[in-house]
Amino acid sequence: MLSVEAKAQYRVPFGTVSITPDARKLIDVALDTKFVTRGKYVAEFEKQFAKTFQAKEAVAVSSGTDADALALAVLYDFGAKRGDEIIIPALTFVATGNAVFQAGFTPVFVDVKRETLNIDADKIEAAITPRTRGIMPVHLMGKPAQMDKIMDIARKHKLTVVEDAAEAHGAEFKGQLVGTFGHMAAYSLYAAHIITTIEGGIVTTNDPAMADALRSLRNHGLVGKFEFQRIGFSAKMNELEAAVGLGNIEIYEDILGRRRRNLLHLISKFQKFDKYFITIKEEKGEKIGPHAYSVVLREGLNFTKDEFVNYLDQAGVDSRNLFYSIPTQCASYAFLGHKLGAFPESEYCSDHGFHFGIHQDIELSQLDYVVETTESFLRSKGHKT
Ligand SMILES: Cc1ncc(COP(=O)(O)O)c(C=O)c1O
Repeated sequence: MLSVEAKAQYRVPFGTVSITPDARKLIDVALDTKFVTRGKYVAEFEKQFAKTFQAKEAVAVSSGTDADALALAVLYDFGAKRGDEIIIPALTFVATGNAVFQAGFTPVFVDVKRETLNIDADKIEAAITPRTRGIMPVHLMGKPAQMDKIMDIARKHKLTVVEDAAEAHGAEFKGQLVGTFGHMAAYSLYAAHIITTIEGGIVTTNDPAMADALRSLRNHGLVGKFEFQRIGFSAKMNELEAAVGLGNIEIYEDILGRRRRNLLHLISKFQKFDKYFITIKEEKGEKIGPHAYSVVLREGLNFTKDEFVNYLDQAGVDSRNLFYSIPTQCASYAFLGHKLGAFPESEYCSDHGFHFGIHQDIELSQLDYVVETTESFLRSKGHKT
């Protein structure tokens, strides 16, 4: 359901939130009984999430960023030292990099592939040093990273893999669910994502020791009654959020199905624009868990991304930049000393790319409107479409 504000503002809004009637009932019960924190809904949500995403354990936390950070902080139980290195893609939402620092590690960045927006697995080994402890690939836009190559490298160098599946609930790589390749997977449950608790995150794992560490880490490092064994976080999920999540799991297949219908519709409609744009594509054996539709302008065009994005915005199509090359385009990371040009593919995608919503509340007619608006923009630039 769209908010009134979003409806009024944009004809094709970026995000949405599905709050089911059952979730509303659970919220009322939680409020009436005053069981609002760490109660049965959180436990039930964890159970159902683990089942849906084929993991033995799931630990709910307060955001996707916390999910990333806590999953990494688990590595201290397995021999990691503060300041050790975690390999992540240069192009991703800044939260991935922030979480590495929040966990007390140092991010080491690897460039992405322009065609997939995901970490270039062929460049990972060159970034490994004696201090590397883990790899955190991101399945950006819900498109799976190359998990076969990444797991081979991790096994060879004895590294832990935490999949950042914030945007990729339900995606599959070679027929296997993403989030089931690595030692842990971190999901965001923020409002714009496939399963939401409004704000929230969750980590899945098959390793009970990792799950125990996660439960301790989300609660200040507590073990037992009042013993603090780890430097922890305050990152618990509350019952109201879990109630929204339970409602989302109930309609998850429908949400995913509608998003996939929208994605496939656009993939087919955007084929005719192929000489202008690199857009998200589904390879054989791959299933995208659609977060949004990404568009990267090809080189040598007679218009800029900003011109196109502004044209769409004026027409009521909301969009977001395609993130940034964190080490070279985010001011907050300038202290690391990376120079612009060091991550050319990530920088290109950021300078020339954007993404817009294809969520469950967007109808095919709205997507056709985006296609028509794209055609009229291209015509205004002298192109025949
Ligand atoms: C790739 C990625 N990682 C992590 C996060 C952080 O999630 P949250 O906003 O729930 O903290 C996001 C958020 O959208 C994301 O896109």
